[in-house]
Amino acid sequence: LPVAPFDCVVFGATGDLTMRKLLPALYDRFRDRQFSPTSRIIAVARTAMETEEYRAKAEAALRQFVTPASLDAETLQGFLALIRYQTVDALSDEGWAALVAILKERPEQVRPFYLATSPELYGPICQKLARHGGLHPLSRVVLEKPIGHDLASARAINNAVGEVMPESQIFRIDHYLGKETVQNLLALRFANPIFERLWHADMIDHVQITVAETVGVEGRGGYYDRSGALRDMVQNHMLQLLCLLAMESPISLDADAVRDEKLKVLRALRRVEPHEVNSFTVRGQYTAGAANGHPVPGYLADIGGTERSLTETFVALKVQVNSWRWAGVPFYLRTGKRLPRKVSEIVIQFRTPPFSIFPREQHDLQPNRLLIRLQPEEGMRLEMMTKEPGPGGLHLRPTGLDISFEKTFGIRYPDAYERLLMDVVRGNTTLFMRRDEVEAAWGWVEPLLETWAERPEGPRPYVAGSWGPTAAIAMIERDGRTWYESE
Ligand code: BG6
Repeated sequence: LPVAPFDCVVFGATGDLTMRKLLPALYDRFRDRQFSPTSRIIAVARTAMETEEYRAKAEAALRQFVTPASLDAETLQGFLALIRYQTVDALSDEGWAALVAILKERPEQVRPFYLATSPELYGPICQKLARHGGLHPLSRVVLEKPIGHDLASARAINNAVGEVMPESQIFRIDHYLGKETVQNLLALRFANPIFERLWHADMIDHVQITVAETVGVEGRGGYYDRSGALRDMVQNHMLQLLCLLAMESPISLDADAVRDEKLKVLRALRRVEPHEVNSFTVRGQYTAGAANGHPVPGYLADIGGTERSLTETFVALKVQVNSWRWAGVPFYLRTGKRLPRKVSEIVIQFRTPPFSIFPREQHDLQPNRLLIRLQPEEGMRLEMMTKEPGPGGLHLRPTGLDISFEKTFGIRYPDAYERLLMDVVRGNTTLFMRRDEVEAAWGWVEPLLETWAERPEGPRPYVAGSWGPTAAIAMIERDGRTWYESE
């Protein structure tokens, strides 16, 4: 169904995110006929360029990043024709009047402003938009992560943006919330009472969340080296996954009802004290090794041959949620670059039977596990013990009840950005982070960053293509548990 007509203004239009994610997502929505005939895309960046030149760049990006089966000449030309380019300097007054004049041609259209720029520019851009008369009641501003670098900078950004726009018009994007399987967590938990009855410390032994990538820093060394895995992946994506797993049932699907419950989880995260940092956290940095069977350089070479960097490209954490539901149930989180496989997976491991009638020496009883695979091959699997068929006695073996979403639904899974961009046009903030959530997440992460910064030893090395430093394995094994690895 078409959404309301809009003028989508993309700041940072020549950047990586726009080329890889935003333009392809908009193209796919256009192809699925969600654009009303008067909708436009206004690409904005500092570089002086004509619209034709930008369209050529956009075309090259679409040819590279859109699935070939979705590209046809007619749709492509139709889409490119909707794009205008405007040179604007976020920090001076250059270009603003011209941008606002374009917008005033269609005053009745919804105006999403997507800020795909460095976060230091979020405040100045919003303030300039306000000063030049570019904002109206149908304006919405989309802030990419990271919102700041720490709690103080996040607050400063939220204040600067909040001065010119109400919270209901601010969309802080975390693209993990747009992934189909992540939204499915809400369905799994709150549409299936059989699971919700089991969802607490009496039944669950622990939870694991793994977000593993095979890529390195991919030319983003400048950003990444100032950021690191804790800021880049944990403060946002992984804590959001944890919130959806751990939260209580919201009273409705209303944006604030859902966000209120997530916020309570963030506030209940047990703070890691400085003396606990070595038992609750492990950070690593990859050295030369292999990725997908090919030799690859180490992190320091990837960021341009520096001698030393204390930035972590891997992190493993043991997190505790202070609540009756979760008391004593650790959440083990790990994420890293240059790990053996790209996989994002949640493992809910249930408790073992309190007493076993099966002789130990013959039967290795495995705990029940619910595996939720976010990517690739989205699906779920419930592992349980069954009897091996045959007349030779009672032999047990773990088997699984499997759901593959692709096989079940047989449709293309839209990219997270497609769903989220259309939610912005619709004005639905449910899958976006509220100001207090972002700040609570920084509030939990910041003491860890501070303690790490005080330790001279820095991250532990791990060979590219391995599962991170062995200390990450030791961390979970000290608790008598192991990282789960699905095939
Ligand atoms: C981004 C991070 O937010 O998420 C990247 O900045 C990371 O470093 C990416 O590679 C992972 O996203 P996905 O959708 O590929 O799991």
